[in-house]
Amino acid sequence: MSPRPIELRSDNSAGVAPEILAALATANEGSALAYGGDDLTAQLRDIVREVFEHPDADVFPVVSGTAANSLALSALCPPWGSVLCHETAHIFANEGGATSLFSGGAVMHGLPGEHYRLSPAAVQQAFDRTNWGDPHHSQPSVVSVTCPTDFGTVYTTAEVAALAALARTRGLRMHLDGARVANAIVALQCSPAGLTSAAGVDVFSLGATKNGALSTDAIVCFDPAVADQLVYRLKRSGHVASKMRFQSAQLVAYLTDGLWLRLATRANDAMAALADGLRALDVTFLAEPQANMLFARVGEPAAVALADAGLLFYGMGNGVIRFVTSFQTTEADVAEVLTRARSILAP
Ligand SMILES: Cc1ncc(COP(=O)(O)O)c(C=O)c1O
Repeated sequence: MSPRPIELRSDNSAGVAPEILAALATANEGSALAYGGDDLTAQLRDIVREVFEHPDADVFPVVSGTAANSLALSALCPPWGSVLCHETAHIFANEGGATSLFSGGAVMHGLPGEHYRLSPAAVQQAFDRTNWGDPHHSQPSVVSVTCPTDFGTVYTTAEVAALAALARTRGLRMHLDGARVANAIVALQCSPAGLTSAAGVDVFSLGATKNGALSTDAIVCFDPAVADQLVYRLKRSGHVASKMRFQSAQLVAYLTDGLWLRLATRANDAMAALADGLRALDVTFLAEPQANMLFARVGEPAAVALADAGLLFYGMGNGVIRFVTSFQTTEADVAEVLTRARSILAP
């Protein structure tokens, strides 16, 4: 008999949190105004203003993180501009040029930085190399950070604030890819505002799908002038859902009474336990996992054996594997993964 499969491929492989399913069922009673004219969408705006401690915050539900990132960036970056981000950033490496499409041609610059984090020195170097005001060169317009990064490391709030301050010295705007921002906030034990509005972020993606929502992400925007543009950009890209109340219902439930942070805590705790167990087996990590993602160098034969043992994960090539935990990963799952891994990886 083949072993019970254990899910570690992605938090996108997880299901929907029961609290969010319940909110959908409640929203399904009766009817409501379409295209965001409903009470739940108004409630969502109020909650976002409260949670992120910003009186002008606005929120736009979309169906994916790619839509949230690329549409937000298109509102921050002119067609002749460029977006500075880490060379491993999802917006640079994994979104098929969506930002360039929606911005009408903006260029993406992937820059280096230790621990998969964009470094201020790399941003400064990009500034120094720019011929400012020269139409032959794209003009840096946005700094974007991903937190947690695509490799599971986390910027501190001070690091995000320092990058935002550096961006401002040249009039750039600050974007945060928050595909897993709840996991970062839990890892940092900071306030939601501490990593976003108070750190100088202008616009970020809320990233709810990976953490228990059903195909619902959102753009959160602290600048009313940018929000004014987003209204049109979202409509023209087909991202104003007629039944928006079902997206808003999920996001209201998500942000109410800290549900999002409780879900992320489960994912992060599962990863911490998994990492502890793997560390005891002398497994080498590409970076110290700080949220709910871990990359380990185990070698190809061990990767094949782990897959044969029923672990579901992504191989990244060259014997590197990726494990991701979610709100659905249980203590029993982690214990079972470690039992199976021990027989394969024990030193
Ligand atoms: C860091 C990061 N940003 C953005 C996205 C994009 O999200 P989506 O797949 O919903 O477009 C992902 C998806 O895996 C991600 O990992």
